Amino acid sequence: MTQEPQGVDGRLTQYGDAGFARFLRRAFLASAGWDEQDLTRPVVGIVNIASDFTTCHRDMPQLVEHVKRGVLEDGGIPFVFPAMSLGEILTNPTTMLFRNLMAMELEEQLTSQPMDAVVLLGGCDKTLPAELMAAASANIPSIALVVGPMSVGNWRGERLGACTDCRRMWTEHRGGNLDGDEIAEVREELCPTAGTCMVMGTASTMACIAEAMGIMLPYAGSAPAVSAQRLRLGTATGRRAVELAHSGRRPRDVLTAANFRNGLRVLAAVSGSTNAVLHLMAIARRAGVPLGADDVHDICAQVPVLADCKPAGSGYLPDLHRDGGVPALLKELEPVLELDAPTVSGQKLGELVSGYAPAAADQTTIRRLDAPLKPPGALVTIRGSLAPDGAIVKAAAATPALLTHEGPAYVFDSLDQLAAELDDESLGLTPDHVLVMRNIGPIGAGMPEAGSIPIPAYLARRGLRDMVRISDGRMSGTAYGTVVLHVAPEAAAGGPLALVRTGDRIRLDVPHRTVDLLVDEAELARRRAELKPRELPQRGWRRLYATTVTQADTGVDLDFL
Ligand code: FES
Repeated sequence: MTQEPQGVDGRLTQYGDAGFARFLRRAFLASAGWDEQDLTRPVVGIVNIASDFTTCHRDMPQLVEHVKRGVLEDGGIPFVFPAMSLGEILTNPTTMLFRNLMAMELEEQLTSQPMDAVVLLGGCDKTLPAELMAAASANIPSIALVVGPMSVGNWRGERLGACTDCRRMWTEHRGGNLDGDEIAEVREELCPTAGTCMVMGTASTMACIAEAMGIMLPYAGSAPAVSAQRLRLGTATGRRAVELAHSGRRPRDVLTAANFRNGLRVLAAVSGSTNAVLHLMAIARRAGVPLGADDVHDICAQVPVLADCKPAGSGYLPDLHRDGGVPALLKELEPVLELDAPTVSGQKLGELVSGYAPAAADQTTIRRLDAPLKPPGALVTIRGSLAPDGAIVKAAAATPALLTHEGPAYVFDSLDQLAAELDDESLGLTPDHVLVMRNIGPIGAGMPEAGSIPIPAYLARRGLRDMVRISDGRMSGTAYGTVVLHVAPEAAAGGPLALVRTGDRIRLDVPHRTVDLLVDEAELARRRAELKPRELPQRGWRRLYATTVTQADTGVDLDFL
């Protein structure tokens, strides 16, 4: 499976004269300092998505330099190029609205510029998924690398990290247990270094999964952002990219069905973010691999939670790395993995895992298969009259007593209404209520992470920390609680969520995988007839998105990609 790299002569600009195109390229590349000897070498593209708006990527420029060094050492020439950068915290309304745009933009760059291989540098939540979607579609030799997780913060002796503790401490503030000065002190410690959120949120989950799926080098999923190991991984990734340019090994050679199933096993074992389900489905769809909600459920039902990381556990990703990282986790999972899955190294996963050391006996972050942190079932996919095409619950981060619950609905039609009403005590919300947040699905609002509706402040002050919440939106992988997410079809697509009225009774039964609206069919038909057609955005990307995006059960990609 070797190929001759085409170098700068690949994908020629079309003038109707190939000789002229090559001549012109060399003239302009000479202007950038490349000489004839340089231009005999394979070109390795390096995606640099550093941005002041993506604080998690603050150290990416330094990592780029190390990737470049690795490329040069092994005889390639590195071409660094930008792509859309998606920073979670500084993007309105949500980066999810732009994941597919980034994937589409990057795919076009990968297939229109002369590169024999590419290093996909990512990190913040949507970036690695978008890059893997692009790579699966473009199918040019690719290897991924992330910036790595932040170090852990400390406030008055308590370890803190983004962003499970952001939410927990904010809830304490809303509940009156932390005053303004204290929450300001906490704020300074939640994100103490460069890097991605260091709990098992979406960034950490996708990084661990990508490593397990063989598209990243061993230890690249969890090495801390500020570590020397991260820099060495950059150099090693650059070298590997040159080998890929020569071998011609492509993403679809690596992103096989077995690797997606292994990715789901790791998702279950780390009790990872629900967002990873959407991303894996979207990448699988691009790679031509069937992957559905039942695959997610069935694998999660077999694999227990081994990683003791927030929000399901108590530790952080640097702890998991210290205790052996993804390799030690894979060693523990060896009996349940498909070991013949390919990796970007050309070796089978089993060959890599056979060389991994098990986690030390005296560590506690990576639990043993026969003594897990939590039983199987971290993520449960459910269906019912309220979600005919499915929904998902992160059972491992929920309150066990609420996993079976029936109560009256209180419906919020918009995030503005939520903000205006939630803390109004006259609404009379009780711990029994089921909070419904609709119109925040893919079409409705680009699917923001607003599904984990805050607990009303007056209930939080009385000590309430969880209620059943249901939405067609998402929730941050760093969040926790009894939250039903990704309801499909969404309200804006005319799903039953659009028919719920405040006071209707809703029954959630996670053990039996159901969520039902307890309203008779005749009444629902009456309500359906009264639904008004939804106004869609009129122009640009948002119009294209709203008119072509698929629902949560197929990964929220555009239907034509
Ligand atoms: Fe970038 Fe959490 S905000 S990874």
